[in-house]
Amino acid sequence: MNLLPKGPNGCPYLFLAPMEGVGDRCFRRAMASVGGFDEAVTDFLRVPTNAHVQSLARVYESDETAPIPLAAQLMGSDAELMAAMAQEVEKRGAPRIDLNCGCPSNTVTGRGAGSSLLKEPDLLHEVARAMVKAVSVPVTIKMRSGYEDTSLFRENLLAAQESGAQFITLHPRTKVDGYGPPARWDLIAEAKSLLKIPVVGNGDILNVQDALEMLKRTSCDALMIGRGSVINPFIFHQIRAHFAGTLYHGKWENLKTYLETYIAEIPKESSERLKINKMKQLMGFLFKGNAKLLDKRQQMLTTTYTDFDAFLTFALPLLESGWMEDLSE
Ligand SMILES: Cc1cc2nc3c(=O)[nH]c(=O)nc-3n(C[C@H](O)[C@H](O)[C@H](O)COP(=O)(O)O)c2cc1C
Repeated sequence: MNLLPKGPNGCPYLFLAPMEGVGDRCFRRAMASVGGFDEAVTDFLRVPTNAHVQSLARVYESDETAPIPLAAQLMGSDAELMAAMAQEVEKRGAPRIDLNCGCPSNTVTGRGAGSSLLKEPDLLHEVARAMVKAVSVPVTIKMRSGYEDTSLFRENLLAAQESGAQFITLHPRTKVDGYGPPARWDLIAEAKSLLKIPVVGNGDILNVQDALEMLKRTSCDALMIGRGSVINPFIFHQIRAHFAGTLYHGKWENLKTYLETYIAEIPKESSERLKINKMKQLMGFLFKGNAKLLDKRQQMLTTTYTDFDAFLTFALPLLESGWMEDLSE
């Protein structure tokens, strides 16, 4: 079965990237209200060494982005626990399970999870293999290009492939790079030429031109977009429109629906301060997207409102005043 079917006019399969802290349920639901992407994935569900997998798995809700499928991403390094957790999220309807090999590791995940797995290709293989054997849905791997450097890059790719993972997504920066240097798209091309399984390209796609350029330079099988979609929630539609030979304008009324969906999803019990900070974080990205809003970004971020509705009454018209519908084309 082709897990990454192309859309009309050869448009590549498009993923909304996992983004812990920014891309939470509110964001995913808001993005689902806009649509344009083929599949989403949760931010990482940490599987600590003392995990009780049944209760941990409850945070995963397969219908969150319906009708768009939502894969579950797991982060951990204990093969047995990760296999058990994979089974739990499969029971809860996960159509695909992704192993996180990219995020900074932490002590609760034991021997070194997330990007630390890239220091030990054998462990990466062991964890992924255990997950593959435990479930009937596809298991995939999202990885950076290495931990400190790329010396184990090829070993890690081959370990991923040999584990039975159905495809990998590559964010071609090392853990130590963070987000500093530009993503090394040449490494996506290298992964493509090394592997038989498909490779999803990810990193620094901010507009349609970047998406086309990545496809051209890497021959990757599909695209994943993270920050570019927080800056411009219409980026997926714009990529699709390009393949259809048309243009897609991100209309203010659609952005309003996106924002209303986001706001409606913020838990009611959150404090005013938390709601304002959450909204400032999201809007901080939207204000980054075009020159007209860039110089108002600081003004928006440094307001001292303590009432959420008052903040919205100030910030929404400011955003509307500078929103450009042809953003990113
Ligand atoms: C705030 C933030 C949180 C992230 N959280 C995750 C995560 O939970 N799991 C993961 O695999 N990648 C995570 N990433 C990495 C992104 O999925 C993606 O690989 C990276 O941002 C590069 O893609 P982009 O340039 O399109 O944003 C995160 C990135 C950001 C900016």
